[in-house]
Parts: sequence; structure tokens; C-alpha cells
Amino acid sequence: MNILLTGGTGYIGSHTAVVLAQAGHQIVLLDNLSNSDISVLARVKALTRSHIAFVHGDVRNQELVHKVLMDHHIDAVIHFAGVKAVGESVEQPLRYYDINVGGTLSLLKAMRHARVFTLVFSSSSTVYGNPQYLPIDEDHPTRCTNPYGRSKLHVEEMLADLAAADPHWRIALLRYFNPIGAHDSGLIGEDPNDIPNNLVPYIARVAAGKLECLRVFGNDYPTPDGTGVRDYIHVVDLAEGHMAALQALARTNQSLHVYNLGTGQGYSVLEVVRAFEQASGKTIPYHIAPRRAGDIATCYAQAARAEAALGWKAQRTLQDMCASAWKFQASLVLE
Ligand code: WQD
Repeated sequence: MNILLTGGTGYIGSHTAVVLAQAGHQIVLLDNLSNSDISVLARVKALTRSHIAFVHGDVRNQELVHKVLMDHHIDAVIHFAGVKAVGESVEQPLRYYDINVGGTLSLLKAMRHARVFTLVFSSSSTVYGNPQYLPIDEDHPTRCTNPYGRSKLHVEEMLADLAAADPHWRIALLRYFNPIGAHDSGLIGEDPNDIPNNLVPYIARVAAGKLECLRVFGNDYPTPDGTGVRDYIHVVDLAEGHMAALQALARTNQSLHVYNLGTGQGYSVLEVVRAFEQASGKTIPYHIAPRRAGDIATCYAQAARAEAALGWKAQRTLQDMCASAWKFQASLVLE
């Protein structure tokens, strides 16, 4: 298939591009490079030894997206482009709705005009808000606690309305839990432009000596060691989940599908610290800091539906995730 990846040079987009190209698909990446670097393109090409088309542009440019869809005879779109920092979304709600909701609306209109009706959407476990039960399955109530999560939920609702109105559409909503790690080659990984908000990229920079000390946001949660528990999933497992979802859309006559992409296993902050120390051979200094606003105690997935419907299940361990994240980080130090 000819597949367009919006946000394709980003962390999850670039890993998905590698998996799809290695499976023989023709890939087009659209990215405005606001939170990724053009150097990722050459690395994806090196890893796949295939032609990867790149368009420098914004998903909100409906005319541009329509032209890309037509010029490249696109069969399906995976929509990664968006902004995803919870704290930032509280300070900049309009920017989050403009990019995440407005950007998706623009993409959908361009797709309809080009008569491209297959879409995989990058959603998030954040749409569940504070869990009412665990593990979280896809029928868990959606109740967001921040503009980022609400922007994802608004898009999900928009897509559900579209699928109900027009049976041409084949849409998969993928609710990610906590993606971490990097491609085994160490060539691509998570390298945010600013100081990382997320745990593992922050730990990786502490291990590399780029940051001094990890703040553990609270150790008084109702969890085994008092620190936050999350469902960490290897980014390559996640990328493979996208390919499985695309393949499932090609053989279904149902317009809308929702899947959790997680491992079903939760790990605490301190368990991740220890795993990263084992993987890197480095000591991670940390101190206990106050809880972070908006954080929840525990979150992990019921991942059975994706396994049953897509034949996909996360394979990689926390040790794999930390070892790959460290290998990528160490490669950056050498640059
Ligand atoms: C994980 C745990 C923190 C940093 C967010 C988004 C979510 C998804 C993944 C996009 C928590 C603790 C963190 C630090 C710490 N992104 N922590 N010190 O908040 O679970 O999820 O990223 O889809 O939508 O909400 O991930 O990595 O920020 O935090 O102690 O410096 O690590 O308190 O318990 P989170 P995270």
C-alpha cells in the first residue's frame, strides 16, 4: 500500500515508517519539523534501504494534504501529527485544539476530497482520565482531566460521527499507553527538543550526564513503593501494532475500531529507574519531589482486544525498552 504518515519524522511516526517500509509498503512522510529533525529522514532511509518520500508541511494545510494524497496515490493515512505535553496543554489550550482537532479536521476534509477513506489515528490512554477500574479496557469511561486529553477525545468523537455518517470510512483509534525505548539499531529514538517532560527520556539524559538528578514526583501514592505506576510499551511494539491495525482495516466492513496498545503490565517509577540502571550500568541519582499536578497513581491496559482482533501483542520487556533507550541516548553523546 501507499501510506501517508503525518508527523512522520516524529518519535512514533519514524519507528512506524521503518516497520511499514520493511514490510514493503510505499511511505510518504509529512511533517512541519516543529518537534523533530530532518536528519531522522536519512536514518529511516538507511534502516529501510527504500525510497521514503518527504513533504515539509503542516497537516492544517488542506490543499497541500490533498495534493500529497493525489500525487502519491495514497491508499491509507496514519495520523501522528499533533502536540502531546499535558502540562503545556493547560497553558496553551487554543494551540492544542487548533493543532490536534483543527489539524485532524483539515486532514479528514482533504481525505474525503481525495476519496481516501482508511485512517489510523494516534490516540492516547489519557482519554480515560483517572481510572475507575484496572486494568483499563476500551469500554472504560472516557473522562479527560486536561486540554491535551480532551483534544484527543474530541477527535475520537469526530471520527465516530464520521464513521456513522459515511460507511466508506475504515478508521482505527489506537489508544497508546506509555511509549518508550528506541529502534535496536540506536539510529532513531526519542530525543525531544527541550528538557523532557516524560520519565524515560529524562532518565536517559541523567544517565548520559546531560541532566544532574531525576525528580521523582511523589512517593506517597497508593502503589507498592509509593511512586506512580504506568504501562510502558516498546515503541517498536507500538509501531507493529499500527501495521496490524492497517491490515485489519483492509479486511473489515466495520467503519470504526478502538484498541488499547499497551502491555497490560504496570511498573513504578523506581522500578523503571532500577531497570535503566541495569541496562546502562549507570547510577541514576534522584530525589523525591512533590507530586506533579494532574498525575494519577496507577494506569495500565487491558490489551486483550488488540490481541484477539489484530493478532498483535506487545513482545518486548522493560529491560528491552531501557536497553534500547540507553543505546540511542549513548549514540547521541557520540555525535
Ligand atoms: C510517568 C511517571 C510521573 C517525569 C504522558 C502523557 C500521555 C502519554 C505519555 C502521549 C509518572 C513520573 C515523570 C519525571 C517522574 N503521551 N515522572 N519524574 O504522565 O504517564 O503520560 O506521557 O500520549 O498521554 O500524559 O508519562 O513519562 O510523564 O510520567 O517521577 O521527571 O513518571 O509522575 O508517575 P505520563 P510520564
